[in-house]
Amino acid sequence: MWAWEELAAWYDAKMGDEGDLWHRALIDPGLFHVLGPVRGLELLDLGCGNGYLCRRFAREGARVTGVDASAAVVERARRREAREPLGITYHVADAADLSGLGDASFDVVVSNMALMDIEDAAGAIREVARVLRPGGRLVFSISHPCFDLPGGASAWVVERIDITSTVWRKVRNYRELFVAPIPWRLEGDRLAYTAAYHRPLSWYVRTLRAAGLVVTAFEEPAPTEEFLSASPQGPWIAEIPLHCVIEARKETGGLS
Ligand SMILES: C[S@@+](CC[C@H](N)C(=O)[O-])C[C@H]1O[C@@H](n2cnc3c(N)ncnc32)[C@H](O)[C@@H]1O
Repeated sequence: MWAWEELAAWYDAKMGDEGDLWHRALIDPGLFHVLGPVRGLELLDLGCGNGYLCRRFAREGARVTGVDASAAVVERARRREAREPLGITYHVADAADLSGLGDASFDVVVSNMALMDIEDAAGAIREVARVLRPGGRLVFSISHPCFDLPGGASAWVVERIDITSTVWRKVRNYRELFVAPIPWRLEGDRLAYTAAYHRPLSWYVRTLRAAGLVVTAFEEPAPTEEFLSASPQGPWIAEIPLHCVIEARKETGGLS
């Protein structure tokens, strides 16, 4: 899990109660669109970080459980819950071992930008399938496997000719499964590294299918106006998505 323990305080401050610019104005709106209303749902947030999404879903009327493998990260989420109780239960657990959670106990599992950080993502997907009730959904966002590969395997290329500039996205090693460090710049320019696991898109669809989860939505959300005006990458991401949102439904037994 690399530096998540070390990053906990910094990440908590960065995400706050609404998420940072990238989450609030780029990633989360697409996740909410696929997720739809959560009122009355039994909801698990897997790789929940500081719990800002758990808190949003609880305010919207879901019964929320958050799981994260980092004790320091969960401690931050629990502090927020203690300051303003919303009835959220947090567990420190590896996503690939949710033995503290019962079979078929959730209507929906949400996982926001976490599956590509999880070493045993296949194990996590199997556990998601176990804890979902038949017909329940997994809704997750990840770095786009086709366009946002870690470890320098993808990058923007800006080509300037006279007064015009064209932006390209270059990609290599797409078919490989690999892990690479992700650098985070903390206060005082200190660097800390977490791990990102690249898996091709077909890996996700096959692994979900093997666990009994069938893909029912696939979105490549466009940036919001806020993101377009606030981030220099906005117009480039409007052309080439750096993340995607996938919904997969647990088979009810009637499907083959
Ligand atoms: C990029 S953060 C995303 C957090 C949160 N979902 C959000 O949107 O802010 C990835 C999270 O996954 C957690 N994580 C990494 N490996 C994990 C594992 N094996 N099981 C559960 N959580 C894990 C990290 O501790 C971290 O909080």
